[in-house]
Amino acid sequence: MTKYQSAQQHLKEHQYCWLITGVAGFIGSNLLEALLKLNQRVIGLDNFSTGYMHNLNLVKEQVEVQAWLNFKFIEGDIRQLEDCREACCKVDYVLHHAALGSVPRSIEAPILTNENNISGFLNMLVASRDASVKRFVYAASSSTYGDHPDSPKIESMIGRPLSPYAVTKYVNELYAEVFSSCYGGIESIGLRYFNVFGPRQDPNGAYAAVIPQWISVLIKGQLLRINGDGETSRDFCYIENVVQVNLLASLTDDPDAVNQVYNVALNERTSLNRLYEMIRSLLVRKFPYLKNHKPQFVAFREGDVRHSQADVSKAIRLLGYVPTHRIDEGLKQALDWYIVHVVT
Ligand SMILES: NC(=O)c1ccc[n+]([C@@H]2O[C@H](COP(=O)([O-])OP(=O)(O)OC[C@H]3O[C@@H](n4cnc5c(N)ncnc54)[C@H](O)[C@@H]3O)[C@@H](O)[C@H]2O)c1
Repeated sequence: MTKYQSAQQHLKEHQYCWLITGVAGFIGSNLLEALLKLNQRVIGLDNFSTGYMHNLNLVKEQVEVQAWLNFKFIEGDIRQLEDCREACCKVDYVLHHAALGSVPRSIEAPILTNENNISGFLNMLVASRDASVKRFVYAASSSTYGDHPDSPKIESMIGRPLSPYAVTKYVNELYAEVFSSCYGGIESIGLRYFNVFGPRQDPNGAYAAVIPQWISVLIKGQLLRINGDGETSRDFCYIENVVQVNLLASLTDDPDAVNQVYNVALNERTSLNRLYEMIRSLLVRKFPYLKNHKPQFVAFREGDVRHSQADVSKAIRLLGYVPTHRIDEGLKQALDWYIVHVVT
């Protein structure tokens, strides 16, 4: 039995109360679905700035009626300490995912990004400390590696940040560390996600992530733009792997594993050119008009790192992480979902 299987078994037998911030977003709503299916009680906090009520409705369709009754939603804002306190009341585990994502958005709106990602984070830490939660697991980011040249990235070697977003995610890690040393007792684990993808990730808007945006554009037969020469590469990580690490990080009882940060990805590198070809060839069977589709190459994007690949041995060693989905398996599942849900 893997550690993940025993964690799932444990949760089927023991009910806890979880708080997911950013629950109406992509990762948050997938965490919600997984936890409700394991018969957990979940409080969700979201202000719908980039999340959607329809994500919550889609989760409702996926779970038993009884499981849905274990969910309580609070429409609120992590920039308000009182909202955080209300949400943290009687909570065992916090999965903090509310933030404003996207490097380009942070370059355009650094103050707003700072308010949500740093002040909001600090409010959540204070509220979690005062509510004596068992553990505070939070979404960190691969952007923290900044300009560090080494690849694959290991947790202890970071460079200088390349965007306001990267600054905020690094400050989160510093605050989490300081809270565990200054207020002994608050246990935290930061998860440095690398380009997560899967169902319910928003394909629309100027700041959409590459995979849902491209899938949507291709299904609609529209023009697809690749930034730069297409040889920029990423370690794309399917959402199921992210759900797994959140549960492992929450439940680990290994003292060496807590108050740490972990890379979450696969230790694989896929260029944008290769990604485009993978998605196009999977879609062409259903959408024959993609047979002769060609992308348009445009300028490199400001603040983007050239290559990003994770060494995941720390998560494997200390948390027992065993990725279940490589990029091709994840893409097939994500595509099945987008084909049904993207309106052409
Ligand atoms: N998706 C990725 O590839 C990726 C990579 C690295 C890090 N992350 C981090 O993971 C977390 C979740 O990302 P996601 O991809 O699900 O993004 P998302 O935009 O789909 O979800 C974020 C959610 O947080 C909510 N939110 C934002 N500000 C809020 C506030 N002030 N109060 C309450 N709710 C607020 C939004 O409405 C949204 O529902 C974020 O912290 C993000 O920075 C994501």
